[in-house]
Amino acid sequence: MINIFTNFCTIGGAVVGGTMPNYYAIQVHDRQRGQIFTAQVPDDQYILHSLEAEGYTLPFSCRNGACTACAVRVKQGNLVQPEAMGLSPDLQAQGYALLCVSYARSDLVVETQDEDEVYELQFGRYFGKGPVRIGLPLDDD
Ligand code: FES
Repeated sequence: MINIFTNFCTIGGAVVGGTMPNYYAIQVHDRQRGQIFTAQVPDDQYILHSLEAEGYTLPFSCRNGACTACAVRVKQGNLVQPEAMGLSPDLQAQGYALLCVSYARSDLVVETQDEDEVYELQFGRYFGKGPVRIGLPLDDD
């Protein structure tokens, strides 16, 4: 028997399950497509997955918190992203988040990044500063 108010399920008298998730409104400024949309997302599912289930398409690649393709700037609200291994603590403190591994903790307003913006902020100082050379580094030996 499922209690629709608490989402608890009883099987043979044992209580299984948990409480209903909280839902928060998220407004997404999709800068690549020039669109703004608002949806409701639960606090117990990744935001990217929840938006996709509602039919919205946003940038992604690894879906695992590593590549930064799904990065957004959080303009308002709070989220948590404990598995965002691809985003430095500095960039998280600056308000960037990876939607593929983020959970809403309040109503949110987010804005998609410029292409490779977060990658450049994070790694640009290490890569791509010298001239591009054809061939493998060992070809010079
Ligand atoms: S899709 Fe790669 S970090 Fe989110």
